[in-house]
Amino acid sequence: MTILRTIADVRAALTGPRDQRQTVGLVPTMGALHQGHRALVGRARAECDHVVVSLFVNPRQFDDAGDLAAYPRDEARDAALAVEAGADLLFAPAAQELYPPGFATTVCVRGPAEGLEGAHRGAAHFDGVATVVLKLLTIVGPDAAYFGQKDAQQLAVVRRLVEDLALPVRIEAVPTVREPDGLALSSRNVRLRPDDRPRALALARALEAAQAAVATGERDPGAVAAAGRQAMAAVQVEPEYLELVDPETFAPLAAIEGQALVAVAARVGGVRLIDNQILTSDGRPS
Ligand code: PAF
Repeated sequence: MTILRTIADVRAALTGPRDQRQTVGLVPTMGALHQGHRALVGRARAECDHVVVSLFVNPRQFDDAGDLAAYPRDEARDAALAVEAGADLLFAPAAQELYPPGFATTVCVRGPAEGLEGAHRGAAHFDGVATVVLKLLTIVGPDAAYFGQKDAQQLAVVRRLVEDLALPVRIEAVPTVREPDGLALSSRNVRLRPDDRPRALALARALEAAQAAVATGERDPGAVAAAGRQAMAAVQVEPEYLELVDPETFAPLAAIEGQALVAVAARVGGVRLIDNQILTSDGRPS
């Protein structure tokens, strides 16, 4: 697998595959790759002729300098995992390559970016995501780009961006990969202290409780959220938010009629975790 650092090199490397009418899949990542990323790359491998993985810890989407500094970085390990998962090309630019001196553009998506993560981390978070995703899509020009359902709001923001700007790319969602006990895989999990690890399950348990409430006929989002909060309280974890929203618009739900997404964020021993689950009216995951 080739590791490229510059926009010009990526564009040059993709000329051949394009001339041969090969399809290109992009998996944007910030590194610290795990089995969730492997699933993204695996899906791209299965659906595209040429798979590009981008590896860039995007400073513009971090609301906390400490979080950015603590973000795990190990390019050699990431490259090995990406190649094993089926990547053909790794794009690992330096920050100056994507944000050269004088860079003055910010892409701002409203709508689905406004609540939950947008409200708790600040608008700059999704501005940063939208700016870098648009830039990566422009550089690689993929036929399809792959995002995890784990970051459901990010997925909704990217879908909105692509739709609004009529970008010629398919956005594919890949289901969340979980540990056997239900903890959603995240690059942040390695920062959980061993004695906090059991409490990290509070998020998955909250989603299960919300789903169980819907399965027993509860249709009031407040009551469903309360069931989730109660499950978290049992392990002394306080949610930053736990809300039921429309999975596309991320608008809060007044009633559960069609599809509902329950989203939760919480700090466990100082590590901020998020998780979500789409509920159907029969309470089964879709
Ligand atoms: O999900 C991520 O890892 C990042 O938000 C993304 C999409 C690579 C943009 O930096």
